[in-house]
Amino acid sequence: MNCIETDNNYAIQFSDRQNLIIDRGFGTEVWDPLGGRYLDFTSGWGVSCLGHGNPVIIDALISQASRVMQNPNSGFTYSPSRSRLLEVLQPLLPGNLARLFFVNSGAEANDLALKLARKISGRKRVVSTLGSFHGRTFNTLSVTGGPENQRRFSSESPATDFVRYGEFSALVKAVSDETAAVILEPVQGEGGVRLPPPGYLERVTELCRKKSIFLIIDEIQTGFCRTGKMFAIEHGGAAIRPDFMTMGKGLAGGFPMAALAVTGQVAEQIQKGDHGGTFCGNPLGCAVAAAVVDFLAANQIGEQVTSRGVELLAGLNALRRSFPGLIREARGTGLLTAIELVAEDQVWELTRHCQEQGLLVTPTRNGIVRLIPDLLVSSQHISEALSILEGALQRLGSRVAAASPAGIDCGSHFRFGGDNNEKYPSTAGQAAGR
Ligand SMILES: Cc1ncc(COP(=O)(O)O)c(C=O)c1O
Repeated sequence: MNCIETDNNYAIQFSDRQNLIIDRGFGTEVWDPLGGRYLDFTSGWGVSCLGHGNPVIIDALISQASRVMQNPNSGFTYSPSRSRLLEVLQPLLPGNLARLFFVNSGAEANDLALKLARKISGRKRVVSTLGSFHGRTFNTLSVTGGPENQRRFSSESPATDFVRYGEFSALVKAVSDETAAVILEPVQGEGGVRLPPPGYLERVTELCRKKSIFLIIDEIQTGFCRTGKMFAIEHGGAAIRPDFMTMGKGLAGGFPMAALAVTGQVAEQIQKGDHGGTFCGNPLGCAVAAAVVDFLAANQIGEQVTSRGVELLAGLNALRRSFPGLIREARGTGLLTAIELVAEDQVWELTRHCQEQGLLVTPTRNGIVRLIPDLLVSSQHISEALSILEGALQRLGSRVAAASPAGIDCGSHFRFGGDNNEKYPSTAGQAAGR
């Protein structure tokens, strides 16, 4: 059996797959076993922030692996590599966040935040937003606002009140004396790279403070320079003050690692035994994360991300102008960008055309294709990616034109009826660089 057959026969099939085997990578480029080259504009769903095969990560892995990979009694014992990560990361935390705990995935970090918020407040309800994504554990699914997730799994989790992302008045109405926490992404990633209106997160902070409700900010996709700042809430200055903040993905550049940060006040109310885990804060992950975070901070990678992000978004907007019948909107912040297609069902087709020409992008629900390259991506690779995307859009356009009934002008003015985006209000005009 080849690699694809083995996987298809022996692995649990939770998702459709692309017909693609990745054998190795370097920087923004990856190769299949036959030497086919692709530009990785997915960075493994926003994880490989320093690109593939970066010596910063490899050296940290090798050096820590040759010392110790898992402590005796795990978290009961101290580790120089965990201390190093705490020293590097703690001073970078925004607002009043003061203490950290390391876990293994974003969902686990959010799960822990929700669990602690409910326990400490003694309240049960959580307010979350439509279109949000906070993970796939049972608890995090209960606050994930995709209708698909809700339908499939969350019928037994009635303690969440969903409101439209960005609508402050709806949030004011949704909170009550029973609300333990509000959970929010600074930019909805999986929901389609949706930016909140200016001042939204500041107003939510103020509301939570007045009502003594915990604010959980999920920076799992937006953290570690993805939007041009170390954390996306820094774009709003000091007025956004979470009680809990979760991080993951880029934290260790490819090693499975995530974290929860809490304020000193929250930390005081946490009791021994409230949480723990075999791999939590293991020396190998901490060594890699310390190297990554150190690199990001020492080299002002956020500024580089802002410049590259402007180039990428300008190119996506130019494509939107060239293909108004295919692309409804281009948006983004830093190197978290997306195009929203007019026709939802063309997402996979466009993704396939891109792949056939050597560009990997991320198909997302609601007609959205995300482009989230590594943070060190070059201007040349951005230009190359944009020209592949242009070719893929031309192919898609020709195919749609051929399939259209005679007499409909499909040049570059395709028209598809209906708004596929009712549940998730458009953020047109808020994207940077428009
Ligand atoms: C904002 C956000 N929160 C949580 C998660 C879940 O993280 P993980 O897949 O590491 O469990 C994701 C994953 O995409 C995410 O984007």
